[in-house]
Amino acid sequence: MLSVKDKELIRDSWESLGKNKAPHGVVMFSRLFELDPELLSLFNYSTNCGSKQDCLSSPEFLDHVTKVMLVIDAAVSHLDDLHSLEEFLLNLGKKHQAVGVSTQSFAVVGEALLYMLQCSLGQAYTAPLRQAWLNMYSIVVSAMSRGWAKNGKDKAD
Ligand code: HEM
Repeated sequence: MLSVKDKELIRDSWESLGKNKAPHGVVMFSRLFELDPELLSLFNYSTNCGSKQDCLSSPEFLDHVTKVMLVIDAAVSHLDDLHSLEEFLLNLGKKHQAVGVSTQSFAVVGEALLYMLQCSLGQAYTAPLRQAWLNMYSIVVSAMSRGWAKNGKDKAD
């Protein structure tokens, strides 16, 4: 559950970041590949993501960066009724299971998200703000992970 204070911290901090999704998303994914370079190989686009630089200059990869930022944007817009995103997030988890992304990798994306927030917000990046974002991201990822697990199970049955 998100507290009233969590929601306020998230909304206020996203206000300017959300207007510039692409560059902030690039900072986030750049960090993701530092944390786990093996994730590069999961982006099998026509412009191959052989290296971080290749990936960051691939239009399809940059589309994915924007897609991730739009999911975050949707979560921020639905802080009062995150459960309304449940079906969408379950499906998103299923799709990621199908393309070989592990649920542990969602957690690494979370670390990269916090890094991006820290870089962008500077002194406004406080412990309560970090915790508020972690709380929100955990809700998103837990729904994605339920969809992920369900897809794996459906395939095994
Ligand atoms: C290491 C983590 C991740 C990897 C390797 C990954 C990889 C992929 C791949 C290969 C696709 C299919 C091709 C494409 O649409 O570009 C995809 C689709 C997508 N991903 Fe991710 N992804 C990751 C994490 C996330 C996260 C955390 C989110 C959102 C919070 C997200 C949002 C999306 C969306 C919205 C799509 C499009 C789904 C659709 O076509 O309906 N991804 N991802």
